[in-house]
Amino acid sequence: MARFFNTNAFRLAALYFALFAGSVLALFAFFYLSTAGFIETQIEQTVGAEIRGLQEQYEQLGAAGLVALVRERSLNERVDNMIYVMTDPFLHEIAGNLSAWPRTITPVKSGWITFPFDVHTRNGTVVHTALGTQLIVGGDRLLVARDLRDATVFRQHVLSTIAWAALISLALGIIGGLLMTRQMLRRVESVANTTRHIIHGDLAQRIPLTGSGDEFDQLGTNLNAMLDQIERLMAGMRQVADNIAHDLRTPLSRLRSRLEVTLLERPNTTRYAEVLTETIAEADQLLGTFNALLSIAEAEAGSRRDTATVVDLAEIARNVAELYEPVADDKGLTLTIGTPDSLPVRGDRHLLSQAIANLLDNALKYTPSGSVSLSVSRDDGTARIEVVDTGPGIPPDRRDVVFDRFVRLEGSRSTPGNGLGLSLVRAVAILHGGNVRLADNAPGLKAIFSLPAVQAETPRASDARPAA
Ligand SMILES: Nc1ncnc2c1ncn2[C@@H]1O[C@H](COP(=O)(O)OP(=O)(O)OP(=O)(O)O)[C@@H](O)[C@H]1O
Ligand SMILES: [Mg+2]
Repeated sequence: MARFFNTNAFRLAALYFALFAGSVLALFAFFYLSTAGFIETQIEQTVGAEIRGLQEQYEQLGAAGLVALVRERSLNERVDNMIYVMTDPFLHEIAGNLSAWPRTITPVKSGWITFPFDVHTRNGTVVHTALGTQLIVGGDRLLVARDLRDATVFRQHVLSTIAWAALISLALGIIGGLLMTRQMLRRVESVANTTRHIIHGDLAQRIPLTGSGDEFDQLGTNLNAMLDQIERLMAGMRQVADNIAHDLRTPLSRLRSRLEVTLLERPNTTRYAEVLTETIAEADQLLGTFNALLSIAEAEAGSRRDTATVVDLAEIARNVAELYEPVADDKGLTLTIGTPDSLPVRGDRHLLSQAIANLLDNALKYTPSGSVSLSVSRDDGTARIEVVDTGPGIPPDRRDVVFDRFVRLEGSRSTPGNGLGLSLVRAVAILHGGNVRLADNAPGLKAIFSLPAVQAETPRASDARPAA
């Protein structure tokens, strides 16, 4: 409960309630003030008109005429609750329907007075109040008044009606405010609940939406989108971790068991040397996998490496091709290279070298016979590297998945490799604001790597670093 009073929702509700109560009370006060005086005003008008009429009569008929008139009007039961008293200058009654000139008179406003008087009913005598005004005619005094009872009853009636209405409105206001607060708190609570579940490891939890599209729904939608993204990233990371565990555990355990078996055999230096050489080769391959994974992670993170330096893509390509010429010669493949004199791009020399090397490596590795060509060209603002071979190629429906980590196609299992080369190529392309795609060379494969070229600027001497 203390927590409830501390919430923003409660404070808001309290503020709204105060505003609501203030306006309801102001409205009712206005209503009361404008209706409650209504009957008094009517009485004043009636009494005023009556006394003016009597004055006119006095002026026409004289004192005797006025007395006769007052007597006549006082004869019946008090018609219309009207009260008449006429006395001589010494307050001796001459005519009227009140037993005597009232003893206590209270002035209310200029010319108007109130006074109590006795009313005889079947149940005894009660005191009423009257509102009236007086007139002096030739020394005699005339008082005309009217019973205020109706006005009092009406005023009380209005007051009690307003009091009830105010009470009901305020009660409704409180209930409404509490409901509103509860509703708001419940939505916040549901967000808090979901985050609690997620913190405790249930990443599949999502914030429930009401579908109303209000602020809470928008917040929920955004949070859910964020959670989806986080879940995707985590799934990707888990996949990498799984892949590593799977792809590194097998060679590591193979390596270990070979050493163990050799150790159990009869000591033999020649045999030892043989096994150690194999082990070193296998360890090298493991290191290669680790390095490739690290390079991909680095390129994907893209933070540590400097990609703002202007480098010459043509020169990088020539250097890489030079490294692979012996490989091509060994396999009896023709390797042709076509590059412009220079092609400046902004990028990381080491990563670009590795990307080109991976493409060339694939082309030479998977092409049994024929030719491989590497060409670098410029097409408007885009620098383009194409590596084309005459090998088996990749079926169109597999051209996307080969970019994923550790993916190797069926026919390639016999050749050494980790299935990480193209993953690095793609990460490098994305890091440089470019892209890589695979196309058909019928027969063979055409890999196209493009990235933005630097507009009409030659690389500065300071940017030239030795190729990796
Ligand atoms: N030029 C190509 N011709 C035919 N198939 C290819 C070619 N390039 C890649 N592939 C196929 O795509 C798969 C993925 O290539 P990737 O370069 O990512 O891995 P890898 O060459 O198997 O291993 P690594 O490059 O890590 O040594 C290869 O295993 C191969 O099946
Ligand atoms: Mg490869």
